[in-house]
Amino acid sequence: MKSSVVAALGCLAGSALGHGQIQNFTLNGAYNQGFILDYYYQKVNTGHFPNVAGWYAEDLDLGFISPDAYTTPDIICHKNAAPGAATATAAAGSTIVFSWGPGPWPHPYGPILTYVAQCSGSCTTVDKTSLRWVKIQESGINYNTQVWAQQDLINQGSKWTVKIPSSLKPGNYVFRNEILAAHGASSQNGMQNYPQCVNIVVTGSGTKSLPAGTPATSLYKPTDPGILFNPYTTITNYTIPGPALWQG
Ligand SMILES: *[C@@H]1O[C@H](CO)[C@@H](O)[C@H](O)[C@H]1NC(C)=O
Ligand SMILES: *[C@@H]1O[C@H](CO)[C@@H](O)[C@H](O)[C@H]1NC(C)=O
Repeated sequence: MKSSVVAALGCLAGSALGHGQIQNFTLNGAYNQGFILDYYYQKVNTGHFPNVAGWYAEDLDLGFISPDAYTTPDIICHKNAAPGAATATAAAGSTIVFSWGPGPWPHPYGPILTYVAQCSGSCTTVDKTSLRWVKIQESGINYNTQVWAQQDLINQGSKWTVKIPSSLKPGNYVFRNEILAAHGASSQNGMQNYPQCVNIVVTGSGTKSLPAGTPATSLYKPTDPGILFNPYTTITNYTIPGPALWQG
């Protein structure tokens, strides 16, 4: 009773603030459970929650990390994040579809990025500060239509599709899908980062190792041109935040 009341309040707060998390994802169509807020309340009330490939996080308001926290570990995989106790499995070249929820994604401005980091052992026990991130997908604004990636996310029913690079060699990886909601980005600290992580064991016949990668705490600065900018004008030169895209 208590747990469901608290969970319901959490959902109300979430929809009122209009935020979200990756609640599940598919790998070539196969369903995988992500982390949901109910698990947080199950952990508080019973000490346990299901083993899932989605990372645990305490984004209880389904909220965001702001630029003044870019150098803290919360930017890695959201607030007080910890590795998921399970892993999903997919071959290199597979299609990941991340489902953001609960409810439709509300913010139409800003880019969507995806990173991957390799774990030296199992990702279920990895030290998150040891992860070095490589960007494998970036989507900003279409200059012709002025439509941002986040409007595309909304149009796709809050689902975001990413391909695991076909050349990526087998191993244990954390995938990090991140929405940067830019509706307040004209003010310093106005950008809203929503990073979410999942564990995937990549199989298949890829041969390429990731390049060196970047600690999450060095990905962005509050004054980067794609972090602090006016979204309410015709955009002709948006600089997508973060390190260079790896093409595999
Ligand atoms: C997956 O997550 C989305 C977003 O919250 C939700 O709408 C959908 O019902 C979930 N799918 C399942 C099978 O639980
Ligand atoms: C666009 O270019 C102008 C002039 O160089 C610069 O001041 C501005 O920060 C750039 N905007 C973005 C979003 O990169």
